[in-house]
Amino acid sequence: MNNNNSLFSPYQLNQALVLKNRIVMAPMTRSMAADQFVPTAQMAEYYARRTDAGLIVTEGTIIRPDAQGYPAVPGIYTKAQINGWRRVTDAVHAKRGVIFMQIWHVGRVSHPSYLNGELPLAPSATVMMGRVKRGEGMTHGESRAVTLAEINDLIASYAQAAKNAIEAGFDGVEIHGANGYLIDQFLHYHTNHRTDRYGGSPNNMARFALEVVKACGEAIGYERVAIRLSPGAYLNEIIGDARDSLVFEYLLKALNVFSIAYVHTGDDDNTRTYSELGNSTTTAFIRSFYKGTLIACGNYSQEGAKAGIDNNAFDLVAFGRPFIANPDLVNLLRHQHPVQQFDASMLSTLY
Ligand SMILES: Cc1cc2nc3c(=O)[nH]c(=O)nc-3n(C[C@H](O)[C@H](O)[C@H](O)COP(=O)(O)O)c2cc1C
Repeated sequence: MNNNNSLFSPYQLNQALVLKNRIVMAPMTRSMAADQFVPTAQMAEYYARRTDAGLIVTEGTIIRPDAQGYPAVPGIYTKAQINGWRRVTDAVHAKRGVIFMQIWHVGRVSHPSYLNGELPLAPSATVMMGRVKRGEGMTHGESRAVTLAEINDLIASYAQAAKNAIEAGFDGVEIHGANGYLIDQFLHYHTNHRTDRYGGSPNNMARFALEVVKACGEAIGYERVAIRLSPGAYLNEIIGDARDSLVFEYLLKALNVFSIAYVHTGDDDNTRTYSELGNSTTTAFIRSFYKGTLIACGNYSQEGAKAGIDNNAFDLVAFGRPFIANPDLVNLLRHQHPVQQFDASMLSTLY
């Protein structure tokens, strides 16, 4: 047993929430929702099997129809979706788990086939290259710049999704601000070419993210709102720019003013450094500006995770792929039992 291991010590996230250990299940899209983007009973069982985690973050969940970029993702904008998620939160709470919903809009990472032939929405009109993931031969392409009125609607949609998540029984929401999706597209010069109050300078480029945080915080309480961020450009054809770090510095400092639940690193390799972040890793960069709870993520070993917590490099650690391969990951780590390696073939079932 590892009773003195910091990974297994409880963590007071804030006045509302205590986590039983420092291990978080990272959000992972599984594309297993039913018609009309409704979560299933199998999804409830899948999450309930992982309640040994201190915190579960659900797969990205679309806040409205034009937020979709992958097949069979769950949503949180209809009564049937809220009721479906209620089954998940009931199952998780019955086993004393804590669960946040990741709320998501993919922006330009969508495709007209998901949008009745319309172009994807984005901060600016850009052309994204590459294949649509899980999209059977589809390729990315043009996006359309959102108007100021559409930006207000999007912010309202995030806040409504947060309210719906609470109605569905969630303990909070993690705003998906990472991995090249809509919010991240505002935060990088490569995808934000706006010349109005949402572009052109760090405070303008951070405005959309901050307005989403504020709208969600006012809707459900800041202690139940978190955000995932990818200061390093690494996914969905967002290319780093030396100026990006100033945008994230501004945003992270501004987030210190709100008592949100946490910031979560969006990266898949904790050792990767980024020239645009002054050759820092994503987690180290976030830690240098953000003073609240930080969840690190990205290919951690148990030893690396423990060392990071002991050295105060971060507060909590999220594991993604290991949780798909090992529903009882926390127990295996606690007893130092062998952990099964993730294999992409595991994505075809929802065990
Ligand atoms: C199948 C799969 C689906 C993912 N879906 C999401 C997602 O919906 N939202 C998100 O923020 N990250 C998503 N990620 C990224 C993970 O949350 C995590 O950052 C990444 O897997 C690195 O952690 P790991 O090395 O412990 O797996 C996904 C990763 C995988 C493997």
